[in-house]
Amino acid sequence: MFEHFDTPNELFTFRLGTLLSAEHDSLSMLEDLERVVDGDDLKQLFHHHADETRQQIANVEECFRLLGMPPDDSPSPTTRGLAKEADTLIRKSHPTLVDEVAVAGALATEHYEIATYTTLIDMAQAQGHTEVVRLLQANLSQEEATCDKLAAVERQLVGA
Ligand SMILES: [Fe+2]
Ligand SMILES: [Fe+2]
Repeated sequence: MFEHFDTPNELFTFRLGTLLSAEHDSLSMLEDLERVVDGDDLKQLFHHHADETRQQIANVEECFRLLGMPPDDSPSPTTRGLAKEADTLIRKSHPTLVDEVAVAGALATEHYEIATYTTLIDMAQAQGHTEVVRLLQANLSQEEATCDKLAAVERQLVGA
């Protein structure tokens, strides 16, 4: 979308676009993980957050609408990389280890999402986009809640 960033607003818009791509990547990953894990509670957790992620995508698209811009689709190399790493580990792991590997992969994506939302909320606040802040904050709350749930499952699975 941009060759070069000259203003805070251009940088914000670009980062919002990569966030939208990150959410699409996250949704694909959650759907894949739901399929491969064994535990019913874990399947339900992934299923629930996939539903939330569909709404998060709509919220980020709404942010673009509020900013008067078409949704940008700049890629998100980090989330693609995290999904690829999880996929590789799952394929290499014994079936009894798959749930643990899947949770760790999902947890890494949630941490990345939290970091990205935190930065974008600060940027949107600084630029006076109050309604955009509200939508991003709603998404961030879901990421944090999911992160806490996944961390508890991970501790249980690794026996910590
Ligand atoms: Fe998300
Ligand atoms: Fe998430």
